[in-house]
Amino acid sequence: MCGIIGIASNKPVSINIINSLKKLEYRGYDSAGLATLNQNEINEKKCSGRVEELEKILFKNPSDGNLGIGHVRWATHGIPNQINAHPHSSEIVSVVHNGIIENSDELKKNLELKGSKFKSQTDTEVITLLITDELKKNNPVKSVFNTLKQLKGSFALGIIFKSYQNIIIGARRGSPLAVGYSKDENYLGSDSYALKSMTNKISYLDDGDLCVLSKDKIDFYNNEEKKINKKVYTLSDDENISDKGDYKNFMSKEIFEQPITAKNCINEYIDSLKKDINIYNFPVKPEDMNKIVLIGCGTAFHSCLIAKYWFEELTNIEVEIDIASEFRYRKLKFNSKNLYIFVSQSGETADTAAALDICKKNNMKTCSIVNAVESTIARNSDWVLPIHAGPEIGVASTKAFLGQMIVLFILSLKLAKIRKDIDLPSYDKHIKNLKVLPIAIEKCLKTENKVQSMAKEFLDAKGSMFLGRGLSYPIALEGALKLKELSYLHAEGYPAGEMKHGPLALIEEGLPVIVIAPKDKYFEKTLSNMQEVIARGGKILFISDHKKELIDENIRFSIKVPSLDKLLSPILLTVPIQLLAYHVAILKNCDIDKPRNLAKSVTVE
Ligand code: AGP
Repeated sequence: MCGIIGIASNKPVSINIINSLKKLEYRGYDSAGLATLNQNEINEKKCSGRVEELEKILFKNPSDGNLGIGHVRWATHGIPNQINAHPHSSEIVSVVHNGIIENSDELKKNLELKGSKFKSQTDTEVITLLITDELKKNNPVKSVFNTLKQLKGSFALGIIFKSYQNIIIGARRGSPLAVGYSKDENYLGSDSYALKSMTNKISYLDDGDLCVLSKDKIDFYNNEEKKINKKVYTLSDDENISDKGDYKNFMSKEIFEQPITAKNCINEYIDSLKKDINIYNFPVKPEDMNKIVLIGCGTAFHSCLIAKYWFEELTNIEVEIDIASEFRYRKLKFNSKNLYIFVSQSGETADTAAALDICKKNNMKTCSIVNAVESTIARNSDWVLPIHAGPEIGVASTKAFLGQMIVLFILSLKLAKIRKDIDLPSYDKHIKNLKVLPIAIEKCLKTENKVQSMAKEFLDAKGSMFLGRGLSYPIALEGALKLKELSYLHAEGYPAGEMKHGPLALIEEGLPVIVIAPKDKYFEKTLSNMQEVIARGGKILFISDHKKELIDENIRFSIKVPSLDKLLSPILLTVPIQLLAYHVAILKNCDIDKPRNLAKSVTVE
């Protein structure tokens, strides 16, 4: 995680560094800092906490200079205080770093033996001191290359030098890094989003690349230290929509945007005239496909889990799912007729990107379902299916999850059709249902007032439990994850049928239990599991597409979502569980867009 920015210009850069850091705060918000070069001096300022704090420091004591680097931190080595904040500077060099240096302890010992003194507890400071040492005998580019050879782990770096006033060096291994081009100004950034307000012309560094930026040119080198050229991408305009408008926070904006997210995504993939799905060029011939393997982390993994039910229901293809951080270390059996699908909002999640690399190294065909189409995962996949949700800024994933589910459902439907695993009338019916899905999502948002009242039930709760079966089981997991990350309340998600195998022991008088039960083939079974909870004093909050009258009087609250095709129910049931987590967090006065200890883009292992 962590966010890096660098600007080389012909005018002062500190204000633009601050503005870019604000955009990068989704990557980490434990501390912030910047270093500019002015009159042969490195001018470093840093603080614990948010970019706002750094801005206040600069307001009192401005940093001049036409060249500088900035950083927002998500702490890995060392507590989030001012000393551990980046940049880490010596007399002659200043470094910002995203990633982890795995051999930092060993490097630190060697440097200490040579007399180096460390100020911080970070792994980053070894980079500063190694480059400082190298600069005694080499130019900046050679010094950085020599330093990179000694580092193990994954990283992106931004480096400035006291004696080389006009350059910033960037380097990448594992963690993402982009550069941006403008007139009399060039940029370095952890992602293109941070650079968008300044330019729409972007290049991306690949693993092992190094770049040297000055205000009027950027040179690139590969890991063999040879000069290379880079493709320049033009960013699309729609990706610039990243304002929260009248909403209190990005998360509420993103929840309420979901009818539009769904509409955009469906319009991209459904050809209304032909009543067909616009997905072509499968990297593995659908008729010959042996297995689909779906891989992701966190919320993205939950969409993989839902998709498993859809692929199994609609097609005859075998389906496997895996959490990326587990997949990447397992002893895997590859088959060239398998399709490996990677699901990621950011397209930068380190574990998912590493899992993709493993598949590529084994010559497997890969597909990514991403929101950020210029991301590492998208660029490295054979086939990309974007979700077209627009930038998602809130750390808690909402509209991207919805988009992932829609694309996965559409993909399963298209595969079923090509393979003739589904009859045409059923296929047409599903397409019709998809077209009314945005209106149904709109109706789900109308449950907000009721959900708000329901949220009060969590204020004195020790914990909570989310239960569902079948397609509602992943939604139970997602409900628990959303509540944990936003309100810091302990929550468990379980398949309702598993309760009696252990978790039932947690039920006590008044424990909030959210039962997610659409009227599908599991409905009656879920109601029985609910009775077992009621019998032990659990307080039931019921979410269904079924009429309230039929439900038990012991239910404290019930929320009804519209009834559409059963296969689409997880998409609709997701909305109230997002609203629930949101309102519990509001009542507990939590930071909605930046929950504690988390970051939006998880670019470390
Ligand atoms: C969701 O609310 C989380 N913040 C998190 O689980 C997220 O989904 C996960 O880190 C994966 O991110 P990605 O979709 O960008 O790969």
